[in-house]
Amino acid sequence: MNKKYSLLILLALLLPLGLQAQKSPQDMDRFLDDLLKRMTLEEKIGQLNLPVTGEITTGQAKSSDIATKIKRGEVGGLFNLKGVDKIRDVQRLAVENSRLGIPLLFGMDVIHGYETIFPIPLGLSCTWDIPAIEESARIAAIEASADGISWTFSPMVDISRDPRWGRVSEGSGEDPFLGAQIAQAMVRGYQGKDMRRNDEIMACIKHFALYGAAEAGRDYNTVDMSRQRMFNDYMLPYQAGVEAGAGSVMASFNEVEGVPATANRWLMTDVLRGAWGFNGFVVTDFTGISEMIEHGIGDLQTVSARAINAGVDMDMVSEGFAGTLKKSIEEGKVSVETVNTACRRILEAKYKLGLFDNPYKYCDLKRPARDIFTKEHRAVARRIAGESFVLLKNGQLSPGSSPLLPLSPTGTIAVIGPLANTRSNMPGTWSVAAVLDKSPSLVEGLTEWVGNQAKILYAKGSNLISDAAYEERATLFGRSLNRDNRTDKQLLDEALKIASQSDVIIAALGESSEMSGESSSRTNLDLPDVQHTLLEALLKTGKPVVLVLFTGRPLVLNWEQENVPAILNVWFGGSEAGLAIGDVLFGAVNPSGKLTMTFPKNVGQIPLYYAHKNTGRPLKEGKWFEKFRSNYLDVDNDALYPFGYGLSYTTFRFSDVTLSQPSIGMDNQLVASVTVTNTGDRAGSEVVQLYIRDLVGSVTRPVKELKGFEKIYLQPNESRTVRFTIAPEMLKFYNADLQFVAEPGDFDVMIGPDSQNVKTARFTLR
Ligand code: NOJ
Repeated sequence: MNKKYSLLILLALLLPLGLQAQKSPQDMDRFLDDLLKRMTLEEKIGQLNLPVTGEITTGQAKSSDIATKIKRGEVGGLFNLKGVDKIRDVQRLAVENSRLGIPLLFGMDVIHGYETIFPIPLGLSCTWDIPAIEESARIAAIEASADGISWTFSPMVDISRDPRWGRVSEGSGEDPFLGAQIAQAMVRGYQGKDMRRNDEIMACIKHFALYGAAEAGRDYNTVDMSRQRMFNDYMLPYQAGVEAGAGSVMASFNEVEGVPATANRWLMTDVLRGAWGFNGFVVTDFTGISEMIEHGIGDLQTVSARAINAGVDMDMVSEGFAGTLKKSIEEGKVSVETVNTACRRILEAKYKLGLFDNPYKYCDLKRPARDIFTKEHRAVARRIAGESFVLLKNGQLSPGSSPLLPLSPTGTIAVIGPLANTRSNMPGTWSVAAVLDKSPSLVEGLTEWVGNQAKILYAKGSNLISDAAYEERATLFGRSLNRDNRTDKQLLDEALKIASQSDVIIAALGESSEMSGESSSRTNLDLPDVQHTLLEALLKTGKPVVLVLFTGRPLVLNWEQENVPAILNVWFGGSEAGLAIGDVLFGAVNPSGKLTMTFPKNVGQIPLYYAHKNTGRPLKEGKWFEKFRSNYLDVDNDALYPFGYGLSYTTFRFSDVTLSQPSIGMDNQLVASVTVTNTGDRAGSEVVQLYIRDLVGSVTRPVKELKGFEKIYLQPNESRTVRFTIAPEMLKFYNADLQFVAEPGDFDVMIGPDSQNVKTARFTLR
């Protein structure tokens, strides 16, 4: 084939993907040098300004007069505007009506899917299925980009050990190792190889840093911790996201070592850029700049100057940069070079996204119909939702009988509870682009699932919470549960009547979707009052009851564990959750989700996490109280459900752990193996988890830390040997001088199906 002809074919193949010609870093530098030379100071400051459109509510503010500002070159991007036609029109204002025609970035909180919604991130993390998580981000990018979005404020990678904090629903739980793998998978899913295609978008690692460690689990509260804890327990997922090439990072609201993250130069420059080599741009979180006035570190001009001098490049909503930077430059408080640097970073992002080549790259009006909420995407969402559910309990109704789940899709099934028939609550918190009416409720999903094999009956049974004002606070943003004005007794009587006609009861209880997420902290993590009463009454009927638990965080479930025969935790499973719950309840899918956050026995135990330190007075094995030991008078130290825990419809046997050698030097590695056998009568997946304990260190080390995992699928009677390579690199930690070192000594290798139920072997690092 002649060369010219094959080039043409290549071009024809690439064009539909929106691919642009490859450019070198030198091309970019030349282009940006030239552009920056032509920009006025006002235009440069304009690039640092990110107003909100006010179309989708994710905070308190709205920007006025945006069109005028865009035409004057005073805006670098917009966020939370939905609809490709609207975005195209606004882009046109920037490109065709501003002096230099610099295209805008269009950001949005695309957190766990765009219109096809995947499980909330905490649920997604419970799949421990890294390719599936990447695929969810990939689909989110395809859909968001089809609707004009070039930038997502995701992944949220904040480690948290406090289920009172509502935002645990948006993250991957308590473990930095797992969190880091997920952070990277999501960045890969969003950005693809290099963001050159028109269905790849820029990711944003947030919230940098330590936002998940807010005191008392109260959102936006103070954070304070040692650097050793920061680097050993909290920083890894941010760093991993940066190493995966995330184009942007969002500053967190909280302070770090007494300085708000948004003004913290050590964080934004020394660590992020200096130590980790980040070369994208940093955006504030919403009014992060103006909030520093309330933090008490100065007026708007002062805090804006502090932010940009710290290394923050883009101001979301506050308009502190837009309003004060010029003055600060005139007064010598900020240098022109600092503004140039920030501006260049934002222009670089636009360049890397290909927006200078084609500002309408994401504005193909034909794409939404073709790419958004497609049958294929929804099928993936259903599959992944089924993987995210965690089977917490599956008891027998009588000794010797088989476990209650899976159910047979026959007879009469009563679905009862305030979460049973609500479409708007299925997607879960932070699903701002979702069309709420499009997700079948649990009742609708199960009805479709069983077809005419079984009869599904429904009753609400109770409101969400007895306190109407609390219910209102917990059902904002169109996610109302349509509070029922009947009395509690009337609701209960109706439920009991429906229950009496059924063979089995599915109790759909828990939190509403907005009981977790931003500004949704709670101090009581029990099932809400009226729901508890309902559950008790349903159990008293003597019918088999399955608790299908909707929640965005670990709840306190002691009573439920003791009294309810089967508990399936479904988090908020997204657009297809109604059907996916059917898949698991009726056994088409064998549950395999494993918790990524510890479920405590009561709120007083919080923070409770598996990777704790031993203390000088640990409780002895098998005891739950001993005077002068580290424990409580009124509850033991254990979790109700530990990190890594989750049941299956089959059972797995783990062999002892074997090590390829008893010791290694700093240059070698060993292999730890375990053979896992499916001892039940169904095929199923197991997450084989590797934990390591450093027995003696120059500083104290956790009792165990996750260092590897593999999800395997086994047929009945099938065995597989899982091998983990252990290298000194995996044994490193930050010591008292914050050096990242592996120290010689003994290590325990623990492998098992969760963080507590492990088999152990020991080796020495020489
Ligand atoms: C505030 C939230 O903290 C952040 O996660 C989100 O991306 C922004 N608002 C924008 O909506």
